[in-house]
Amino acid sequence: MKLLLQHHGLVGLSLLILASLASQAASQTTACKPGENCSPPNCRCWNDRGIPGGYPVEKIPQVVMLTFEYAVNNGNVDQYLDLFKNLVNPNNCPAVGTFFVQELYSDMAVVKSLSDNGHEIGVTSIDGKIPGSTKQWRDNLKEVRQVVSSAGVPEKSIIGVRAPDLKPGGLEEFLALSEEGFLYDASCATVSLPEDLDWPYTYDFVSGPKCDNGETPEKKFPGKWQVLVSDLEYNGTKCASPSACPGIKSQREAFDLFYNSFITHYEGMRSPFMIVINPQWVAVDFQREGTHQFLEYINAAFEDTWILTVTQALEWVRSPVPNANATAGAYAPWNCAKKNELFFVP
Ligand SMILES: *[C@@H]1O[C@H](CO)[C@@H](O)[C@H](O)[C@H]1NC(C)=O
Ligand SMILES: *[C@@H]1O[C@H](CO)[C@@H](O)[C@H](O)[C@H]1NC(C)=O
Repeated sequence: MKLLLQHHGLVGLSLLILASLASQAASQTTACKPGENCSPPNCRCWNDRGIPGGYPVEKIPQVVMLTFEYAVNNGNVDQYLDLFKNLVNPNNCPAVGTFFVQELYSDMAVVKSLSDNGHEIGVTSIDGKIPGSTKQWRDNLKEVRQVVSSAGVPEKSIIGVRAPDLKPGGLEEFLALSEEGFLYDASCATVSLPEDLDWPYTYDFVSGPKCDNGETPEKKFPGKWQVLVSDLEYNGTKCASPSACPGIKSQREAFDLFYNSFITHYEGMRSPFMIVINPQWVAVDFQREGTHQFLEYINAAFEDTWILTVTQALEWVRSPVPNANATAGAYAPWNCAKKNELFFVP
């Protein structure tokens, strides 16, 4: 199942999902109404097409999130860090990403050094297996957070969860996530959602999009967020991760894969663009180089584009400022390194 999903992608569910979105929206008695029964910072409707803060699109930053999963160790960290080389955000802080760590085969000293350099550490699982119950989810989240925080990563900064195989665990996962005080899941890919619905949202209401792969919680979890995995599209096929996109055979094609998907956000409503970097994707030189070339290009060509952690992206949705303010260094959540622990005080 794992290999099948990684390599063949999640295609062809679009019409089905659009239909189910429409019917859910119509049938909910307690529909989420942006600004009426749900407002930031602790609530955002899944069906809210509005730009946070109501700013005009040309005034807001475009956020790109590089996210990693599974083990992090001396065998792969250099490939991951290669992607960040020479990338500087508009406020002159280095570009950063989010690593959802698996305990098995991870080197916690490496994980700690990522955190020390401003990257965010989240949790995926103990051993890469998908937890099969609330208890297993809880055990996974607790244990991995405990091991990571024992290595010196601030415990309060460990608030994000990514399910193995991008297969969110629905109610079981959210019960555990909520009980353990995590803030968000970043595992849900819904390839049919239009770009202007690609904003993070909370589970204050039961209605909402279904993830293409895995479960959606069928209860409310007020104040708990979903930060969606963005679609990639190549040669007419949509996919949730680059390894799942068929037909990428050169550095140029890897560049195009990301660029064409990025520009949909940039020229659309600038919803955050979350990229999943699979270990097998960066292990191949031309794929890694095409990815880095894409990042260097957008970093140089778009002065309002930022490469940030998931928590930083989420914080902006909760309390947005214009791009100019952040660029001037007047937005604390995006200032350099070691800031994640300051947010989301329970
Ligand atoms: C693009 O898709 C078409 C039809 O689906 C296929 O024939 C073609 O080989 C693909 N091109 C690449 C570069 O993958
Ligand atoms: C952005 O900066 C301007 C100019 O300094 C200021 O007036 C405004 O209040 C700031 N906006 C936010 C949301 O911080």
